Amino acid sequence: MTRENEVPVIEARGISKYFGAVTALENVSLKLYRGEVLGVVGDNGAGKSTLMKILAGLYPPNAGEIFVEGKPVHFRSPKDARDMGIEMVYQDLALAGNMRIDENIFLGRERTRRFGPFKFIDNAASLKQAKEHLDKLKIEVKSVRQRVEELSGGQRQAVAIARATAFDAKVVIMDEPTAALAVKEVRKVLDLIKDLKNHGIGVILISHRLDDIFYVCDRVMALFHGRNFAEAPLSEVTRNDVIGWIMGNKSPVAQAAKIFDLN
Ligand SMILES: Nc1ncnc2c1ncn2[C@@H]1O[C@H](COP(=O)(O)OP(=O)(O)OP(=O)(O)O)[C@@H](O)[C@H]1O
Ligand SMILES: [Mg+2]
Repeated sequence: MTRENEVPVIEARGISKYFGAVTALENVSLKLYRGEVLGVVGDNGAGKSTLMKILAGLYPPNAGEIFVEGKPVHFRSPKDARDMGIEMVYQDLALAGNMRIDENIFLGRERTRRFGPFKFIDNAASLKQAKEHLDKLKIEVKSVRQRVEELSGGQRQAVAIARATAFDAKVVIMDEPTAALAVKEVRKVLDLIKDLKNHGIGVILISHRLDDIFYVCDRVMALFHGRNFAEAPLSEVTRNDVIGWIMGNKSPVAQAAKIFDLN
């Protein structure tokens, strides 16, 4: 199914990014539609994280444009992107281990109450909201008052995703969310991604694990040496195709020929 006639929820056109003499991205484009899970693959250093950091407002591009629901945007910070519903779950999660789950979910966006000239954090309201939000995403924790450092890797990942989706996110970008997880926890995070999709959220998933890509994605695109290399609906590619793309080869047969020196 092609969605070419639809306005993408986020689109990047012709993005280039240089770090000194290093070209991290050259003329890269990407489209993501509502309720779609887009897998982004590529070898180490292909430019995946850099592209996502640009979409999330962490880095400005040297060239190119970003559109949110068809409108051009210029993010000066992750806050600008977040205000437009673009959230990123970073590889290192950026959670505060010594704080409670609910505090992490509301970090930087605390519900406050006024008392005369004083403003203070409305703990009861944020506890209740955090709990409702976790329930909605079917995330199980003993209590939202638990400290994040007491949680398993998978639970932490779930809290980071809950944080990213607590405030009307349209797009959630995840950079290798399952890389550090035990097998049982991987499935839970991937099911959570399916849930976000079912709520109409667009998800970009960077992963080196083809099992993840083939379990949740609708479409997959590959970057190679900082450029768009290939992309297709998941239903039209095999694992061997995708492995070939990561190695910079569009024909798996040719790739095999190279490996086994058939030519
Ligand atoms: N902050 C930075 N300063 C200088 N060079 C950078 C910076 N961030 C990334 N690069 C370079 O840009 C290129 C792309 O890096 P990037 O992290 O985007 O790759 P990646 O596809 O996410 O790789 P991986 O799979 O290893 O995470 C690499 O050559 C990297 O060394
Ligand atoms: Mg990376």
